[in-house]
Formats: sequence, C-alpha cells, structure tokens
Amino acid sequence: MSHKVTLIPGDGIGPEVCESAQRILAAAGVDLDWEVIPREEPREDEEPDAFLRKAIESVHRTRVALKGPLTTPIGKGHRSLNVALRQELELFANLRPVRDVPGVPSLFRDIDLVLVRENTEDLYSGVEHQVVPGVVVSLKIITEKASTRIAKFAFDYARKHGRKKIHAIHKANIMKVTDGLFLECIRRVAVEYPDIQYRELIVDNTAMQLVLNPRQFDVLLLTNLYGDILSDQAAGLVGGLGMVPSANLGRDAALFEAVHGSAPDIAGKGIANPTAVLLSSVLMLEHLGEESAAHRVREAVFHVYREGKHLTRDIPGGQSSTAEFTGAVIAALGS
Ligand code: NAI
Repeated sequence: MSHKVTLIPGDGIGPEVCESAQRILAAAGVDLDWEVIPREEPREDEEPDAFLRKAIESVHRTRVALKGPLTTPIGKGHRSLNVALRQELELFANLRPVRDVPGVPSLFRDIDLVLVRENTEDLYSGVEHQVVPGVVVSLKIITEKASTRIAKFAFDYARKHGRKKIHAIHKANIMKVTDGLFLECIRRVAVEYPDIQYRELIVDNTAMQLVLNPRQFDVLLLTNLYGDILSDQAAGLVGGLGMVPSANLGRDAALFEAVHGSAPDIAGKGIANPTAVLLSSVLMLEHLGEESAAHRVREAVFHVYREGKHLTRDIPGGQSSTAEFTGAVIAALGS
C-alpha cells in the first residue's frame, strides 16, 4: 500500500539526514509517496510565512510528515518554525522514547523510558512583552483543556504499550496556580486508570533522579518547558541527541522528527549522523501500520551499531560519512 507523506527536510544538516532516511526506507521496500516542502526564503511576491503555510497545507492533506531540523534565530528574527508547526497543526503531544542503542557508549544500559510532553502552551506560548525598559514578562499559560488532553493521551499511551507507571513532573510548590492546575487535571484523569501507577515528582528532583537512577522511570508526563529540557537530559543517558527519535501527535496529524537541531557547525560536510531521523521514521512506519518494515529498519540500524564498523564521527571511534553509514544500514537490511 502506498502512503502519501510530507517531507520537510529543514535546513543545516536536515536535508542530508532526511535523504539518508529516504534511501533506507526505499530499500526496506516501503511504498512512500513523498510530498517534499523545501525550506526556502520567501520570494518577493510571497508573504514571510510562505514556507510555513505550504508545509501546513501539505500536512493537512497527507496527515503524516517526516521533518528535519529548522534553524531558529536566537533573541531576534522570525518565530520558531518548529513551535509554529506544532501549534498550527495542533500537535499537542510530543513523544520521546529513550532507549539505549547496542554498541553505543552510554552512561546506562537497559534504559527504556518515554517522555510525554505537552506541546502547545506553557512558556512556549510566545506571549512576551516589555513592561517598562529593563523589565520584561513572559506568560506561562496552562489550561485545563490542554492539561487534561495530554494526561488522557499519556494514560492511553501507557495502557496501549504495556507501560505500568506514570510520573507527573511539576514545580507546583512554587508555581501553585499554573503547575497546580496541571497536576489537578492529571489527578482527575489518573483515577480513571487504576491499572497504571501514578506518581508526582518535582522537576529539579527529577533531573537528579534521572542521573542517579533512570531505571525507576517508565513514562514521564511533563509541561512544555520541563519536557524540552529533561528530554535532552534523558537523551544524554543513552549517548546523546543523535540517538533519540521523537513524534509530535495530534488528532488529525502526526509529525516525526529528530530531537537534535540543524547543527550548523557540520552542515554540508557529509558527516551528520542520520540515526535520530531514521529512528523517528521508524516511529512513523509504526504509525502508518508498517510494523514489519519498522522492525526491520530498527534492527538494521542496531546491527550497524553492534558491528561498529561504519559509525559517524559523533560516536566515539566512528570515522564514517553519512553516506557510508547509510550504505551499511541498507546492506544490513538485506542480510
Ligand atoms: P544542535 O543539535 O544543532 O547541535 C548541538 C551539537 O550536536 C553540535 O555540535 C552538532 O554538531 C551536534 N549534532 C547535532 N545533531 C547531530 C547529528 N545528527 N550528527 C552529528 N552531530 C550532531 O543544537 P544547537 O546548536 O543548539 O541548535 C542549532 C539550531 O537548531 C538552532 O537554530 C536551533 O534553534 C535549531 N534547533 C532545531 C530543532 C528542531 O528543528 N526540532 C531542535 C533543536 C534546535
């Protein structure tokens, strides 16, 4: 069966790692009909957000997208296109499964946890202003609707995937109103799922516990900012951002992307590690019902890591280019 999928290669290393994923998925025999939306500066006759509009229109049509990283200017310039896409497509749940990859040096072994991050509000609502010169304000927006929606998503996900425990992560001791409402909504949902253990943990303690004893966690449920920070920390437990996939899910659309950024320092050199975008495309295949191909691609990636002969330079001992790594995964698919 053919699947129409939007491809947003992004910028920096995005096009390189997306091309690798496309080649590997084609070699795995999955029939994907890509609708590619390149990142281009708007023409003179186009509005500034032309790229964003084209990407959104495409995902509305296909309902599924694979995305490379998009650069966001710091402290000035256009709003984050990543955040805009998630908001406009109402991709309210960000899912980041974190597992160690065989053969990759990592601080811990047998890590298998999932972070579920609310994706649409909190301090990422982008409502910031200057009150008077020298005094600025950023609004942390938490709503009952979004908190309840993400709580239901997390508990349903846990039940469907045989997960046993959810930790809600908060700072309600200080932010009693905002994080307080987040917790209240989750508690109301948690009682409907007696088969899932429910716990609460303050965010700073969670940061320490993740480093001391990450295996105590199963599913972590977080607001947007805590989720952003702790998911990078969790990636660090298993070898870094190059190893972790991510999915942004909504009612009508799903967008799969690597957790890392556009890596301008290595862009165009042919040395980027495509693993994160590849493992994200594996999540996409599962979403499309292509479980068998998903399994084969994941196993082929793990095989290349176990062998350790064709790893990219961000992995200790790695010397290979993106193309060599890609070729090795394709060869492993056939073995
Ligand atoms: P980054 O993830 O781009 O780079 C951090 C370090 O990791 C760099 O040394 C880079 O070379 C390395 N790295 C990242 N991905 C790699 C890969 N696949 N293979 C090998 N090495 C890799 O983070 P940074 O520098 O903070 O952000 C750069 C830009 O990316 C910013 O404009 C940021 O806003 C954007 N960004 C976009 C994201 C997205 O599109 N989802 C997520 C995070 C950042």
